[in-house]
Amino acid sequence: EEQAFIAELLGKMTLEEKIGQLHQITSQWNMTGPAPEYAQGHEEKLKSGLVGSMLNVIGAEATLNAQKLVVENSRLGIPLIFGYDVIHGYRTMFPVPLGEASSWDPETVKLSASIAALESAAAGLHWTFAPMMDVGRDARWGRVMEGAGEDPYLASLLSAARVRGFQGESLADEKTIAACAKHFAGYAFAESGKDYNNVDISNATLHNVILPPFKASTEAGAATYMNSFNTIQGLPASANEYIQRQLLKGDWGFDGFVVSDWNSIGEMVAHGAAADLKEAAKLAIQAGSDMDMEGNAYTNFLAELVEEGTVDIKIIDDAVRRVLTIKYRLGLFEDPYKYSNKEWEKNTLYSLGNKSAARKVARESIVLLKNEGKKLPINESIKSIAVIGPLADDKDAPLGNWRADAVANSAVSVLEGVKARAGNNVTINYAKGCDLVTSERSFAGEVQFNTTDRSGFAAAVAAAKKSEIVLLAIGEDCYQSGEGRSQADIGLKGLQMELFDAIYAVNPNIVIVLMNGRPLAIPELDAKAPAILETWFLGSEAGNAIADVLFGDHNPSGKLPMTFPRSNGQIPIYYNHMNTGRPGPKNEVFWSHYTDQTNAPLYPFGFGLSYTDFEYTNLTVDSSNPASIQVSVSLKNTGSVTGTEVVQLYIRDKIASLVRPVKELKGFQKVTLKSGESKDLTFVLTEKELGFYDNDGKYKVEDGEFEVMVGTNSADLLNATFLLNTATVQ
Ligand code: IFM
Repeated sequence: EEQAFIAELLGKMTLEEKIGQLHQITSQWNMTGPAPEYAQGHEEKLKSGLVGSMLNVIGAEATLNAQKLVVENSRLGIPLIFGYDVIHGYRTMFPVPLGEASSWDPETVKLSASIAALESAAAGLHWTFAPMMDVGRDARWGRVMEGAGEDPYLASLLSAARVRGFQGESLADEKTIAACAKHFAGYAFAESGKDYNNVDISNATLHNVILPPFKASTEAGAATYMNSFNTIQGLPASANEYIQRQLLKGDWGFDGFVVSDWNSIGEMVAHGAAADLKEAAKLAIQAGSDMDMEGNAYTNFLAELVEEGTVDIKIIDDAVRRVLTIKYRLGLFEDPYKYSNKEWEKNTLYSLGNKSAARKVARESIVLLKNEGKKLPINESIKSIAVIGPLADDKDAPLGNWRADAVANSAVSVLEGVKARAGNNVTINYAKGCDLVTSERSFAGEVQFNTTDRSGFAAAVAAAKKSEIVLLAIGEDCYQSGEGRSQADIGLKGLQMELFDAIYAVNPNIVIVLMNGRPLAIPELDAKAPAILETWFLGSEAGNAIADVLFGDHNPSGKLPMTFPRSNGQIPIYYNHMNTGRPGPKNEVFWSHYTDQTNAPLYPFGFGLSYTDFEYTNLTVDSSNPASIQVSVSLKNTGSVTGTEVVQLYIRDKIASLVRPVKELKGFQKVTLKSGESKDLTFVLTEKELGFYDNDGKYKVEDGEFEVMVGTNSADLLNATFLLNTATVQ
């Protein structure tokens, strides 16, 4: 029925109307990308049905008006599809995705995406440009905040969960919106972590590291894809027929559409891959880029290309059919206005229920990095707490970058959260200490750091002196990570370390509350501060969630989805690296190491402490049935409170036809145990976990010796070995 409807509609469309469906424009210039050259006559084009989609139109009223313009005036009345970057919430903000990934919990991620979808749909949107599933190994790249970290296995599970959260059971359900798997592919591998920089990846990396989350998201039903700004082996992603047509639309059976990134088709000219916009249009449409975001390449040149016989009309028809299919599945042909309902919008956005879900998700995203002498949770006997730092009473920073329609300064600050929880019997001594930035906060502006104004130091030192414990909220400005926010130095910026030292000199009883969108290189802080809590940018309920953890109402269980380096020079640093021929450690110079620093990270992938302790024993492997290898381990809560542990399983294929990583995450279980309680856990390894893609993109499982490792993080593991012999499959 769906395809019959679309075929009939396609039959009625002129070439211009078809091309219109492939043309996407923004409502406000410079909003999420630079203005391209060819933009003009938008309203007329909308009325004539020569635009298929708009981005950055938000709100029930604005979407209703734009939709009316098209539906009531154009010949065929084909509705627009409205897209927007709903990355971690629409009005109610959830933690940035890298933070949420610290929950290691697909259900948590799904919950947050489902509420983001609900609010977006109520605000007239049909489609989010999320999830971003670029596996990122370089913390200098500002967009790691939008992803699920450095590991393809974890990113696959969480990206698929996010897709399910956005899309629900059916796109037709008006509480859901279409997801967009982005950026296809390799964008996070920008050399030196500099956004939009050259990407140079092997086939093995493409297939084993970059593509798995995309494949998992396709399997989860992702309705659309966005390609990326970068080249893949010399070819811009928008012109890459192999990944878009052969892999995605061929082998993976994807039947939705691919939108370009903002003018990524036009940027093929700057890349030197197309002589002009016309050639760029030809290469992109042939390669399977269905919709042109803000490039104006299709609207200006596709008709000419078809008429002169360079582009086959069948290619256009296929792209249009894909766009119409998603519109059909969203139910837009039945009711183009179904999402644009002001009453519904009013009752849905920022509801109490949404906020309480945001607090829950935020708590799950917090990672305890250090807790020397069990400083945390804050002892009930403490009667004076200093709350200090440029981010301590910041009601805006926790909203993070890519904050959709969040209201500025609407988050619960750390100070507010702590005050509310501590109650009247505890004295709170607040002092800002210093500003982190001197610039205005803006999506499009560069961040400038305060490096000179220490006028707040004295008050901060005084507050620390008269308090039993100090909570110091420092880290990054919320616009320090995100698109176009690469950094050559990922240490603490501005005067923050100086402020720490000044306070430390009078009261070393300091708990650091970190806010940041990327791993930070903070070895000095780690060496001195007794306790460090990683809170990322937690969203609307940040301060409450942080207080929940600080006071022990919630025992933290988050684990890092990305390695924290000790220095910029260690980057890229990731746990699942290959072995070298000289892995060391050796007592001489000729092995793979730095002469001035250890190879070990500051905090390894998967790391995160709890207020209780866990003991791992009895790792055993039963490989008698190679189709289903059983790995068992016992976990005991040896501490004094109930806690939740993420039990992680890694494998290493010891000898293979292509060199394999020293460790690869292949399973995890989140387990809650009471004090003194034990549990035996079993993991099953099948060919899905044991194989890898070769340089031709073929998946293979090779017999031989494997190491299996289970434990609390990627660097602290029990290990065992087994022999895989697939000839004996039962
Ligand atoms: O979705 C984004 C993309 O991630 C980066 N460029 C702009 C797009 C639309 O805002």
